[in-house]
Amino acid sequence: MDKKQMQEEILRLKKEKDVCILAHAYQDHELWEVADYMGDSFGLSLQAQKAEQSTVIMCGVRFMAETVKTLAPEKRVFLANADADCPMARQMGREDVLELKKQYPGYTVCAYINTTADLKRAVDVIVTSSSAVQIIEKLPEDKILFVPDPNLGGWIAGQMPEKTFAFFGDGCPSHAEITAADVERARREHPDAEILVHPECRKEVSSAVDYVGSTTGILKYARESDRSEFVIGTENSIARHLSIECPDKTFYELSPKCVCHDMRITTLEDVYGCLTGTSGEEIFLSEEEIAESRRPIDRMIELGG
Ligand code: 13P
Ligand code: SF4
Repeated sequence: MDKKQMQEEILRLKKEKDVCILAHAYQDHELWEVADYMGDSFGLSLQAQKAEQSTVIMCGVRFMAETVKTLAPEKRVFLANADADCPMARQMGREDVLELKKQYPGYTVCAYINTTADLKRAVDVIVTSSSAVQIIEKLPEDKILFVPDPNLGGWIAGQMPEKTFAFFGDGCPSHAEITAADVERARREHPDAEILVHPECRKEVSSAVDYVGSTTGILKYARESDRSEFVIGTENSIARHLSIECPDKTFYELSPKCVCHDMRITTLEDVYGCLTGTSGEEIFLSEEEIAESRRPIDRMIELGG
């Protein structure tokens, strides 16, 4: 089967089997083309609840499939490629958060959505890169313990000096590859370009560029801008998507090293295999896990929706 035939088969099978395909923005363009919805982590969470189909296939990483299962427990939820995990989500567990809570009494625990369902059970509120500022600003509490991305946390904290923050975790290893020297080089080599980055980048990078936003924030900004050259500082799939979508504009990668292997491993074959029962992994969470991890996710949707 060639690519086109496989895409047609996927479209036919998803209808026949009442399946909704969700794809994160970092997935390949050929996966976007068969997806019912493509977006950032916040958009995918909202879509999980809205989908009318009885089954969801997530093309993304494990925490995204877990979030769908938590928000739509009555649906069968599959992760298209069982090996696709987020290395940052593995940095901290629930026990680490429980220990931090003892050390920081009086702090509200806020976790990035890029965490396991198990860790989410121990926190007060979940945020995504596109919803974090809005959500944390609305919280009545002013002492925030933020995990596990100190770069995203620092970028949020910079926008609300009235609140006190404590950060734990090591952040995203792929975005950490982008350095201030990359920004300096991009300014030199592409003086007319705007530089757009994800808030998972280091502070010295985020503070030196023209726009900081989520994956779909970057896509929207570049699509709608009347400028013609952009340097993209997030997983390099976003620069490729934009080059396909906006052929009259030019997109450069801020660093060739900003690659997330986990986001890159899902293929059309995986989705086809998931629909035909030969690959993918069905996500199961206990009733207790769902009830406890849903509480901070519901708070995110209530404050950020
Ligand atoms: P977004 O919520 O911006 O899509 O980010 C998810 C992610 O994993 C970025 O590295
Ligand atoms: Fe996780 Fe970073 Fe990959 Fe996003 S890019 S999935 S945060 S490791």
